[in-house]
Amino acid sequence: SVEERLNDLMSRMTLEEKAGQMCQYVGIEHMLKASGNLTEEEMKKSDAQGFYPGIDAEDMRELVREGKIGSFLHVLHAEEANKLQKLAKESRLGIPLLIGIDAIHGDALVEGTTVYPSPISQAATWNDKLQFKASQQTAKEMRATGSHWSFTPNIDVLRDPRWGRTGETFGEDPYLVGNMGVATIKGLQSDSFGPANVIACAKHLIAGSQSVNGINSAPTDVSKRTLYEVFLPPYRRAIQEANVFSIMAAHNEVNGIPAHMHKALMTDLLREEWGFEGFYVSDWNDVSRIYSLHKVAESFQRASELAVSAGLDMHMHGPEFFDHVVEGVKNGSIPSERVEQACRAILEAKFRLGLFEEALVEESEVAGELYTPEHQATALQQAREAMTLLRNDNILPLQGSGKKLFITGPNANNMTTLGDWASPQPEDKFITVYEGIKELAESKGHSVDYFDIGERSKEITQAMIENAAEKAGAADVAVLVLGENSFRHDWPNKTTGENIDRASLQLSGNQLELAKAIHKAGKPVIVVYVSGSPISEPWLQQNARAILNAWEPGSFGGQAVAEVLFGDYNPGGKLPLTVPMSVGQLQMVYNHKPSTYKHKYHGTPKKPLYPFGYGLSYTSFEISQPEISATKTDFSTKPVVSFKVTNTGNMKGSEVVQLYIRDDYSMVTRPVKELKAYKRVELEPGETTEVEFRITPEKLAFYDMDFHPVVEEGDFTIMLGNSSADKDLKTTKLRVTKNIELIE
Ligand code: IFM
Repeated sequence: SVEERLNDLMSRMTLEEKAGQMCQYVGIEHMLKASGNLTEEEMKKSDAQGFYPGIDAEDMRELVREGKIGSFLHVLHAEEANKLQKLAKESRLGIPLLIGIDAIHGDALVEGTTVYPSPISQAATWNDKLQFKASQQTAKEMRATGSHWSFTPNIDVLRDPRWGRTGETFGEDPYLVGNMGVATIKGLQSDSFGPANVIACAKHLIAGSQSVNGINSAPTDVSKRTLYEVFLPPYRRAIQEANVFSIMAAHNEVNGIPAHMHKALMTDLLREEWGFEGFYVSDWNDVSRIYSLHKVAESFQRASELAVSAGLDMHMHGPEFFDHVVEGVKNGSIPSERVEQACRAILEAKFRLGLFEEALVEESEVAGELYTPEHQATALQQAREAMTLLRNDNILPLQGSGKKLFITGPNANNMTTLGDWASPQPEDKFITVYEGIKELAESKGHSVDYFDIGERSKEITQAMIENAAEKAGAADVAVLVLGENSFRHDWPNKTTGENIDRASLQLSGNQLELAKAIHKAGKPVIVVYVSGSPISEPWLQQNARAILNAWEPGSFGGQAVAEVLFGDYNPGGKLPLTVPMSVGQLQMVYNHKPSTYKHKYHGTPKKPLYPFGYGLSYTSFEISQPEISATKTDFSTKPVVSFKVTNTGNMKGSEVVQLYIRDDYSMVTRPVKELKAYKRVELEPGETTEVEFRITPEKLAFYDMDFHPVVEEGDFTIMLGNSSADKDLKTTKLRVTKNIELIE
């Protein structure tokens, strides 16, 4: 059994070999590339030592042979993975390496893979089953290229869309985030991971999505109640429903304690109370930052002692940590049981993933495993389902033939649709928005005129704007592909993404000026947003004829956009976040507390531009008044809310029906509404379906004053509809007749 093999191996390991398992380095090819594409010879001669001052590639290889490296990240080719595994085999105990990668929407950092829509786009589908499938396929592509561990899902609940990593999240609602997170983990790991799977990594513990000023890795000052009600629930589900096998600590400090040394969270709560059995990995260099940035320790040595003692198991990335762990155990600062526990969990992953049986991958088979027709179909379907129509003033879908379309915009004809954590993909494995529209438009007898306005929104000049407006004037319809750019390999162009936060939610650069000039040309303007972050442009909501939020739709994004514009696919995506009217309205979330909007803003409404859960369709749906099987309950039986959804228009389409609940009166303040169930249903014109949602005590529970989960006797309002806005919701009541304490 794995247990016996673990016991045997551990009994033969030295302290140094155990500490080695806790160390992760960046792939050697990646390191060489990051040091300016130097050859190894050049690197040795120069001072540029890659990510590791004083260490060159040969030194790293030697560390592998010595068993001082247990894991790599970002090994981008099967050939390199095999080379490294062969080196590891030469070490005294021949322990294979665990190879991790940010495969957060497909194994997209690797060239030639299927790029699924980014996480915020995936959340906009409200389709967890499709997310499960996309994640299963991602695991296959990863294993083919020699990786075994994906640093996903990001289950940070988004509370500040200024955060550049918004596109990496599943949005602002803990329940939706939890569902998508669980689907991702189960897709990657399956119920009990083995040689055909990869392990997942829930990240980042915790609350970096509500950092001061929306800045990545800035401090988080968050109440215990908000932690328990908003940020922690997805972690609990990741552990208890999906058995996630690794968790990454956050860059930020949490209420004065750097997350990497937060024992109360890592060990006391998640491991001991909630039963987490996997291992914690640090984020990039964050152990040393306990010392160098947070100034809580006086040295990297002390920082390592604090982190490992608090529960951290693996260090990303580089040297020194190894020596600090060994030294810490020897000087008594790190309990040796901690190293035992860390090493054991990491080795357990390696055993269960089958790496001791076969760590090498078949290089000749890689190409056949990537970007398969089946994977392409899922990526396309996920892109279609993510499409979120924000406005449509009787223009979409574009019908008939013989129209002259004009297309421009900084995101029209490039890889911004791939989003963050993606490498450039080969031309034949990727469709830009322009290419997608052109192909479909021409097949329907329309013509397309494209104006290349460059990729940098801030470099759009007045001359370009005038030129574009003139061309738009000569067309029947203008399609403007605007938005932000988080495409990782596009550093100089990036306007959002990791470490690029936004102080404004308006379009960057001169995009609004471009839109205004084109609008002035007098032809209908259709706007397509390509962006992982929300765009807040009230002017466009007033003046564009249609706005399609395409998010970051991946390899097939261009095709999905085109299908929606011409009505070959009816959009049904819904916003997984609130889009405010302006950045000044932040923090704006739909599940706010009752007193939030008691008073007015001067000069700005209190309403969002688009509410959470909102998205239009080309057809119309009628949702019936919800009926409840019992208006009073003590939960001896569980009440069921049932209702009918009818497609009352004349086009097939899908609707996401959403159930929200409010505890009318409670001993502590509770949100005005909270999402508790949803379902995406697809209906033919005239078709009706019946939907039922069961109300369990968990859906009504909250943490009481002592942080025990309870359901309080009293009335609850059940709201049902197709967005979180009150006007879109029909209500019914449920009375709970006795107090219930939930067992933790
Ligand atoms: O997984 C990521 C993390 O989300 C941010 N810092 C780097 C890690 C590895 O690339």
